[in-house]
Amino acid sequence: MIIVGGSSSRDLAKELSNTIGCAYVQAATTRFPDGECYTRIDTESLEGDVVIVQNTYPDSNLIEMFLLQDAVKKMGAERVTLVIPYFGYARQDRVFKPGEPESAKVMINHLGMMCDRVFTIDIHKESVLDYFRCPHRDLKAAAAIAEHFRGRGIDMVLSPDLGAKDRARDVGERMGVPHGYLDKERLSGTDVRISSEQVGLIECRGKNILIVDDMISTGGTIVAAKQALKGAGAKSVSVACTHGLFVNNALERLTGNALEAVLCCNTLENEVSHISVAGMIADALRESW
Ligand code: R5P
Repeated sequence: MIIVGGSSSRDLAKELSNTIGCAYVQAATTRFPDGECYTRIDTESLEGDVVIVQNTYPDSNLIEMFLLQDAVKKMGAERVTLVIPYFGYARQDRVFKPGEPESAKVMINHLGMMCDRVFTIDIHKESVLDYFRCPHRDLKAAAAIAEHFRGRGIDMVLSPDLGAKDRARDVGERMGVPHGYLDKERLSGTDVRISSEQVGLIECRGKNILIVDDMISTGGTIVAAKQALKGAGAKSVSVACTHGLFVNNALERLTGNALEAVLCCNTLENEVSHISVAGMIADALRESW
């Protein structure tokens, strides 16, 4: 097996190859003066099992992924596995208004033209993966998050909304602490309301709370959740998400709000992506299917 690291996932791809004990090659990706992507995999050949690790977000990384798929095929790859740590467009999983595209399906139709199996991690809508005609699996980061926070005094794990309650249950059960969810209403792209009445029913007074979510984008969800929990008497509020997008300086917004800890997995590499998913990807790659 040979791991090819795309430019979005250099550290993760390298860690993955170290964990598996297999060869690693970093794609050399640059941009032409007009912004077009140029990439090259500088190695003799790539015969056998090739694993490309690359996000499909932002769009520039999606283009790089397409080019890498073609390059590895041309270099002799017999089986191409895509590891897409953060799958962009997964939230655009259906036509919400007439005239819109089915964006997630469009991306998958194109990615699926040159691959034999696909792994994603905590994709926002798992069902979109069924558009792949090849074997595919979404890996869950709950174990890595629970492992990271075990022994750090967390009393309760909560998700910021009903949709993520299974994630909170998974992390909470692994840590052996109670779990639950908050009642969230989205007001706009950046603002949400967390029901203070419902928070009042959760026994969070004096507790160290861990909020878990699949992603932090603008940070609006986490800011509102933290305010509601603090208002209800929580002692501390830590935050862990799988994908830290942190758009529009969201990380500064969050830490400026004095959150006790904001951490994410290394599906998107940034200054707080300290929870590694390399081990679980390695385990999945080792399994033959
Ligand atoms: C929503 O369904 C997701 O699980 C996240 O809660 C959401 O995308 C976070 O977005 P933001 O950080 O912009 O509130």
